[in-house]
Amino acid sequence: MSSSATACAKVILLGEHAVVYGRPAVALPLPEIRARAEFIPESYPFTLDAPQIGVNARLDELSPNNAIVQVLRIVSSRLGESLPAGRLRVTSDIPVAAGLGSGAAVTTAIVRVLAAVFDRPLTPQQVSAIVFEGERVFHTTPSGIDNTVIGLERPVLFVGGSPPEALPLGGPFDLVVADSGDRCETRVAVESVRQSWWRDTPGMERLFDEVGECVGLAVEALRVGSLGDLGRLMNRNQELLEAIGVSTPLLGRLVAAARDAGALGAKLSGAGMGGSVIALATPGGSPAMAQSMRAGGAAWVRTTTVHP
Ligand code: PMV
Repeated sequence: MSSSATACAKVILLGEHAVVYGRPAVALPLPEIRARAEFIPESYPFTLDAPQIGVNARLDELSPNNAIVQVLRIVSSRLGESLPAGRLRVTSDIPVAAGLGSGAAVTTAIVRVLAAVFDRPLTPQQVSAIVFEGERVFHTTPSGIDNTVIGLERPVLFVGGSPPEALPLGGPFDLVVADSGDRCETRVAVESVRQSWWRDTPGMERLFDEVGECVGLAVEALRVGSLGDLGRLMNRNQELLEAIGVSTPLLGRLVAAARDAGALGAKLSGAGMGGSVIALATPGGSPAMAQSMRAGGAAWVRTTTVHP
């Protein structure tokens, strides 16, 4: 009998990059956008079927550097089980290298399905810890925010090294998520910020402190449901991300397109240097913002409601 599992995409509402340097960040799941892993037992050796990346081969035929192969090795070693005979099919609706947690979501779905195949129930925290190991292979200094929010699938306030805190929300709100279509791997953006930090440590630390202050104020705005304040803090966070050096002209144009269409706030989300922009909508304002962001050059746009 086949087994299947899924995992959601995510956005970082505020605090990316500064979170790698110990400041807090807020992340939200996107439950409607998901990665899937299905395992079908067969008589032939373990085979990976990932049509979106053009892979359909036995594990021993694939490069050991293939990202999913590395993940599979980690999962099998953590669970102390060898990969069984059969086909693992991996698909995803999440744009890749777009700041939406595609890699962590695919890994989470794989961990969940193999845990089911091996009949080894894992807590969300155990799944998240295994996915974190995979994240470390892809970019050496992950904060852990992606695996945490995707593993728990609920809004989180995250500070590296501490257990994530549940994030009380005063009410629902609408977000528009727009992928610019420009690609940048997280590790490239993180490394570029690291170079800037080596060049000007006090200056970058000041920027990270300001990001941390925005996050603290945003947590309060979220708690009382003050969307105007939340939007202003997102706009301030975007200015700080520009100063940190990870925005681009296209991301800036998408931010402007959202604000022109009435967004309460807009910013890049995730690693930047490409990837996605998120915009906070007024009630009922999402369609106009989505249209404006498409006209501004977005390759892919989704609207979502975040629920308490
Ligand atoms: O993986 P992305 O593109 O969503 O970005 C992760 C956020 C960073 O703060 C840039 C890196 C990290 O590990 O937290």
